[in-house]
Amino acid sequence: MTDSTGQYIAAIDQGTTSSRCMIFDHAGTVIASDQKEHRQIFPQAGWVEHDASEIWDNVRAVAAGAMAAADLTGKDIAAVGITNQRETTLVWDRSSGKPIYNAIVWQDTRTDRIVTALGDGDANKYTATTGLPLATYFSGPKVKWILDNVDGARAKADAGELCFGNMDTWVLWNMTGGTDGGLHYTDPTNASRTLLMDLDTLQWDEGICADMGIPVSMLPEIKSSSEVYGTGRERGPFRGVPIAGILGDQQAATFGQACLSPGEAKNTYGTGNFVLLNTGTEKVMSKNGLLTTVCYKIGDQPTIYALEGSIAVTGSLVQWLRDNLGMISDAADIETDARSVEDNGGAYFVPAFSGLFAPHWRADARGAIVGLTRFVNKGHLARAVLEATAYQTREVIEAMNADSGVDLEVLKVDGGMVVNELLMQFQADILGVDVVRPVVAETTALGAAYAAGLAVGYWASEEDIRENWAEDKTWTPSMDEDQRAKLYAGWKKAVTRTLDWVD
Ligand code: G3P
Repeated sequence: MTDSTGQYIAAIDQGTTSSRCMIFDHAGTVIASDQKEHRQIFPQAGWVEHDASEIWDNVRAVAAGAMAAADLTGKDIAAVGITNQRETTLVWDRSSGKPIYNAIVWQDTRTDRIVTALGDGDANKYTATTGLPLATYFSGPKVKWILDNVDGARAKADAGELCFGNMDTWVLWNMTGGTDGGLHYTDPTNASRTLLMDLDTLQWDEGICADMGIPVSMLPEIKSSSEVYGTGRERGPFRGVPIAGILGDQQAATFGQACLSPGEAKNTYGTGNFVLLNTGTEKVMSKNGLLTTVCYKIGDQPTIYALEGSIAVTGSLVQWLRDNLGMISDAADIETDARSVEDNGGAYFVPAFSGLFAPHWRADARGAIVGLTRFVNKGHLARAVLEATAYQTREVIEAMNADSGVDLEVLKVDGGMVVNELLMQFQADILGVDVVRPVVAETTALGAAYAAGLAVGYWASEEDIRENWAEDKTWTPSMDEDQRAKLYAGWKKAVTRTLDWVD
């Protein structure tokens, strides 16, 4: 039972494509939601930015929208949780609360030279401490780029006048004060994606910060993922409501999927795909191109770790077909087109738009469509686009099986693309394991709600989370082994064609 007065929990999900607010009840059912997309800014090839002020305006708008949709006031909300696109990097002025540069998005590859120079021939220089390889994906080198390239930034940083945050920190700062000075906190799941945090101590590593020229004074304080950080500011829909949970979006989805025991894994199909395997209190270091990351830390309970396979481009490939090529007018059209043909017609699409992430970590890769003949039509390409998500998932699951020594038997899935039945069947076929979708597929927001609700006693324990999880549908493999092997071999060959593209 709850010892707080509100009947519901709210979650803010600040994602790569959009911001949403979702309101949940005790059973984990969605009561109301609102969502708003923000602009994707591409100043030059390989660069991706977001306007952080636009994002905060959207967060405020969707919070008000969801509350209005269910006719609720702050008194109805027991706590608010925050979840977010991870690694996306923002630096703002501590006194004005204004960003000094756009947020540099996790997909952005402009720090390629910085990470190469930092590694000096060893991409794993910081892996033992941080669990991460040196790659453009992570926040630390993006902070360095801002300090190196924005006029006056380094002097201001040295004088303690700047704040760094990922989007969780930016949202919390604004929800709790903004220009009046908000809370400057983060949680270990987000901090574990910066390349600056020690995975054992959950503190910033001063040596790595010094290597990157980042003053520790600009970094947020690392709290746990579930505790009352503060309350919503006066002017806003969550006035006086405890803000009590922060989880990076992929860790939130893991929590929302009730992957709470070692060996349990989920795959989220969003802008990219992210497979996380709970490894419990053991910090497993990958030998196969996966990341070691914090899965969650609930209050003062022990830290739970995960192995992660991060895939940069999956859902955003469908978005690219819609926005950059105009090949479809709505994302849902991709399934209709793919169903117009029997198979991929020999075509493969490797969407290495941000280089290749796990398990390859090749910043020099760029996207390719291969296997084309006059036979290939729009339907085959649509199929190749969907299949790319499933093949990339198989690559990271194979790495996970090798690292853990145990073969995954069932894959829990969530995120926007899991409504695509063709993709889900193909995913089961190409993996050779069952794929299971829960009733509430919005597990990212749900996970953040759980973290906040646990902190205020709205949910008593993780047992409540397990009880709320319910299966919606299972896809069982029906492809024969030869066909599975042939298709996957084609994919592996296609991947080799994307490498060594950038000098
Ligand atoms: O690491 C990036 C990830 O957190 C982005 O997730 O759902 O916004 O694509 P999403």
